[in-house]
Amino acid sequence: MRVLVAGASGAIGRPLSRQLVAAGHEVTGITSNPANAPLVEQNGARAVVCDALDAGALTAAVAEARPEVVISQLTRLPKDDYDPRTIDYGPTNRARRGGNNLLAAARTVGTRRFITQTIAFIYAPEGGWVKDETAPAWTDPPEPFRSGAGPTLEHEREVLEADGIEGLVLRYGQFYGPGTYYALDGGTARRVRSRRFPIVGRGDGVFSFIHVEDAAAATVAASERGAPGIYNVVDDEPAPLREWLPVYAEAVGAKRPFRIPTWIGRIFGGPFATLMATELRGASNAKAKRELEWQPRYPSWRQGFAEALG
Ligand SMILES: NC(=O)c1ccc[n+]([C@@H]2O[C@H](COP(=O)([O-])OP(=O)(O)OC[C@H]3O[C@@H](n4cnc5c(N)ncnc54)[C@H](OP(=O)(O)O)[C@@H]3O)[C@@H](O)[C@H]2O)c1
Repeated sequence: MRVLVAGASGAIGRPLSRQLVAAGHEVTGITSNPANAPLVEQNGARAVVCDALDAGALTAAVAEARPEVVISQLTRLPKDDYDPRTIDYGPTNRARRGGNNLLAAARTVGTRRFITQTIAFIYAPEGGWVKDETAPAWTDPPEPFRSGAGPTLEHEREVLEADGIEGLVLRYGQFYGPGTYYALDGGTARRVRSRRFPIVGRGDGVFSFIHVEDAAAATVAASERGAPGIYNVVDDEPAPLREWLPVYAEAVGAKRPFRIPTWIGRIFGGPFATLMATELRGASNAKAKRELEWQPRYPSWRQGFAEALG
């Protein structure tokens, strides 16, 4: 199949392009930065330099590629570190507008299927600790996440409700693996080594992880099969902060994380970080496994952190 990947130079776009090519697909990879074109080509894709915010140029690039499947991996999170106190979602919100341009371009040229990436920690922090795709979204989180959650849900709606094209939303877990925050040289590893990532309160907040190679494999599967809709792309073991953080700390050569009371967490980390640590909900991958016929190579972060942090 002809597949177009926007964001082909990113942490997920690179393994995704490589796996699509290995599966026999013809891949066009979009980057906005000419300096990243070699990164795109290294993975076997044809590189096209185009800013997704330039709707005219993007439509021309999509028309030339004539893709049967278009995949948006457009985000613009800080390269090095995700700080839940200060994260600025503005650049990612703009990248998601680029995703909406991409959807419009795909519909114009008669693309059959459109796949986009969002986040598995979008579920409202209430009720059961592990959510399937039908659970209510977190529509009123505190800032700074509030400014990112709204445009994320809006982008999901645009994709799911688009006429004349199969829309799939992949809600990815927290990425680990090469080029991610959780990699050995990533911002989260640095934060944990300098003991700036404590267990807050009882550390009940449930995180869902996914290795970038497994996220890429699920995305290849979604380009080949599966009904339109939302899929959580996460591993088999959603886990509370108190469980996974000490294991992760050991894997990156850090001392055991501190434990701090919730009220101290609120003062130093702010409301969003504290809610993540104490109230976050995890996600179930049952639908993705069943309907995309996908199995993660790293079914648990326990194995993945030990073997493939990157
Ligand atoms: N679920 C998750 O945990 C999750 C999801 C996404 C990202 N992240 C994290 O964010 C960090 C950065 O990841 P990343 O490198 O994949 O993200 P990134 O560099 O912010 O962007 C992803 C891709 O989007 C492209 N892009 C953004 N705006 C564009 C535009 N206007 N036009 C065309 N292309 C555009 C970038 O291409 P160019 O820069 O080459 O133009 C890049 O290929 C990593 O640590 C990663 O783990 C985590």
